[in-house]
Amino acid sequence: MARVNIFDTTLRDGEQSPGVNLNRLEKLEIAKQLERLGVDVMEAGFPASSQGDFESVREIANTIRNVSVTGLARAVKSDIDTAWEALKDGADPRLHVFIATSPIHMTYKLKKTPEEVIEKAVEMVSYARERFPKVEWSAEDASRSDLSFLAEIIEKVIDAGATVINLPDTVGYTTPAEYGSMFRYMRENVPNIDKAILSAHCHDDLGMALANSIAAVENGAGQVEGTINGIGERAGNAALEELAVALKIRQDFYPAETGLTLKEIKRTSDLVSKLTGMHVPRNKAVVGQNAFAHESGIHQDGVLKHAQTYEIITPEMVGVTSNSLVMGKHSGKHAFKDKLKQLGYDLSDEKVLEAFTEFKKLTDTKKEVTDDDLFTILTDVQTKT
Ligand code: KIV
Ligand code: ZN
Repeated sequence: MARVNIFDTTLRDGEQSPGVNLNRLEKLEIAKQLERLGVDVMEAGFPASSQGDFESVREIANTIRNVSVTGLARAVKSDIDTAWEALKDGADPRLHVFIATSPIHMTYKLKKTPEEVIEKAVEMVSYARERFPKVEWSAEDASRSDLSFLAEIIEKVIDAGATVINLPDTVGYTTPAEYGSMFRYMRENVPNIDKAILSAHCHDDLGMALANSIAAVENGAGQVEGTINGIGERAGNAALEELAVALKIRQDFYPAETGLTLKEIKRTSDLVSKLTGMHVPRNKAVVGQNAFAHESGIHQDGVLKHAQTYEIITPEMVGVTSNSLVMGKHSGKHAFKDKLKQLGYDLSDEKVLEAFTEFKKLTDTKKEVTDDDLFTILTDVQTKT
């Protein structure tokens, strides 16, 4: 079974969701959870965009040891230098450098000819490779670019040292058949394509980000980029939890798998939703509150007779558990600590005490404290400055 690398950009493209602004501790907390989830690469931010993002990316790169941490850079030397300063002490540093390749972007935004864009892309990838052992190059707006121009520039940036070639559907415009055939075209027309991994990066403007990502995988993409809960610019990015579960559930059909620990999905989704303030719709696939709820009598009857009549994903697979230990005002510190352990938290005594105090306050106003309430308390305690 082929392995598809997961490139998580919740902390960069996801943070570009209008209205989302994560602080340093919040970003770090999400990064630690992404490490538990088992993503292969995490894009921690855009170091040249602000001092805060620079510091955040540096802290994440210095803390996370089991996932390659990357940062975004425009095709300009100062962005690459800043990204190197932020990432250089990481366990497996890599750069993500991009330049637009579509006629509309080259003409109106970059005001460059296609030849100038090729020259800039090659120069910046070579420059980045003087420092970074791994460099991903993105052709921004690839899905609206000319295919033969794209093939030419890809061949040259691979020669310059790019290790991953990302073909974003920046404006969520493409369709599965079209996006898939772009990957096939590159595999067939770029002579040195095997020296790099092809990557998909899809936006959801027409609601096709997941289908487009899967079409790319079917046509040779070795990496998919996306975010948790599908947050991101405008209508968002491909939702990584949906991709991982779709590949798992339909492994009979798709010969590819991710390395994600699926049981960590629910917790990751909850954390991202809470810290970004981006509410997960009840009917959202895989992580929505209704994803495992059955309303109609016929469905309930079917599920009671055999769960798979109406349930293709088990709640347990993605870490949704039912809870038997009820926490309330009579619960003591011991039970509380035990509960935290059960939920997978490993906190210092000081943090446990802080959380316990908050829990006790809540029991004065609420008869039963749910896992969701505890999750809110624990996240607040962990991200408090
Ligand atoms: O959507 C996009 O094109 C991007 C690039 C910066 C990779 O996010
Ligand atoms: Zn994007």
